Amino acid sequence: MGRFDGKKALITGGARGQGRSHALRLAREGADVAILDIAAQVESVAYPTSTPEDLEATAAELEGFGGKVLAITCDVRDQTAVEAAVAEVEDAFGAIDIVLANAGVMASYGDKKHDMAAWDDSVAIMLNGVYYTLRAVTPGMIERGRGGAIVITGSTSSYIGVAYKPEMLNPGQMGYGAAKSGVLSLMRNFAMVLGKHGVRVNTVIPAGVATKMIRNEFFEADLAGDAPGGWMANVMEHGPVEPEEITNAVTWLCSDEARFVTGQSLAVDMGTMLL
Ligand SMILES: NC(=O)c1ccc[n+]([C@@H]2O[C@H](COP(=O)([O-])OP(=O)(O)OC[C@H]3O[C@@H](n4cnc5c(N)ncnc54)[C@H](O)[C@@H]3O)[C@@H](O)[C@H]2O)c1
Repeated sequence: MGRFDGKKALITGGARGQGRSHALRLAREGADVAILDIAAQVESVAYPTSTPEDLEATAAELEGFGGKVLAITCDVRDQTAVEAAVAEVEDAFGAIDIVLANAGVMASYGDKKHDMAAWDDSVAIMLNGVYYTLRAVTPGMIERGRGGAIVITGSTSSYIGVAYKPEMLNPGQMGYGAAKSGVLSLMRNFAMVLGKHGVRVNTVIPAGVATKMIRNEFFEADLAGDAPGGWMANVMEHGPVEPEEITNAVTWLCSDEARFVTGQSLAVDMGTMLL
């Protein structure tokens, strides 16, 4: 018996990184899983975003668990594409019970971070895209009456600033924090409306996670540059965690053990926000 037997999950940004880790855990524990991902480069982002090969490879891994799997190329900036993907998953699986609004980019490295496109993409992916996802799944989740769980991926940037010099007020960095703060409002309001339908809406707050978003030459150059001592520090004096650590929190939030938890942010940040 798996914790998620019979559950149907939809995960944005599921081709790699944290989304992939969440997808594998849910599938291992019995869920049918749909992964949505742009599987292409986001132009304003310095490091490589995912590829069609990433999406295919994760889908192949998921198939190994024996449940139904869907891999859908979908840019969450495109509301019509998000709605079509949600409809495709509902048709194929008959329901959606678990929604992880996880897709994201860090457009705050490299030369492109100074272009307003970096702001536009950050907000379009991590705020508009979350709204489109939640908006698209809501009518079906209410109508089917099966309850469910939605988890948005926030960031310590949902709560704290990171800018230690004027240059960090660039569009990429500011768009990231603005989007990650904005999703808290989406969480609260969707949680208020969906609560009586048994659908819970929460946010996970990771600090550093060892994915390609920060394991790239641009981020490492920034960290090795002029950051003051203690920038991005945490009370556990620990470096970035593996994606599975965030998956532990996300799957708990989606599980029956958290059945009365809604409208909450769960930080897996090693105490970053205490400093
Ligand atoms: N890595 C960290 O240190 C860290 C810390 C806090 C929060 N986060 C957040 O965690 C989430 C997952 O990031 P990750 O660490 O796994 O990085 P990642 O880059 O490995 O994964 C992000 C995924 O989102 C996809 N994506 C990007 N733009 C998209 C779009 N327009 N439409 C659909 N998919 C798109 C990417 O292709 C990629 O597969 C993001 O929301 C990120 O902001 C990451």
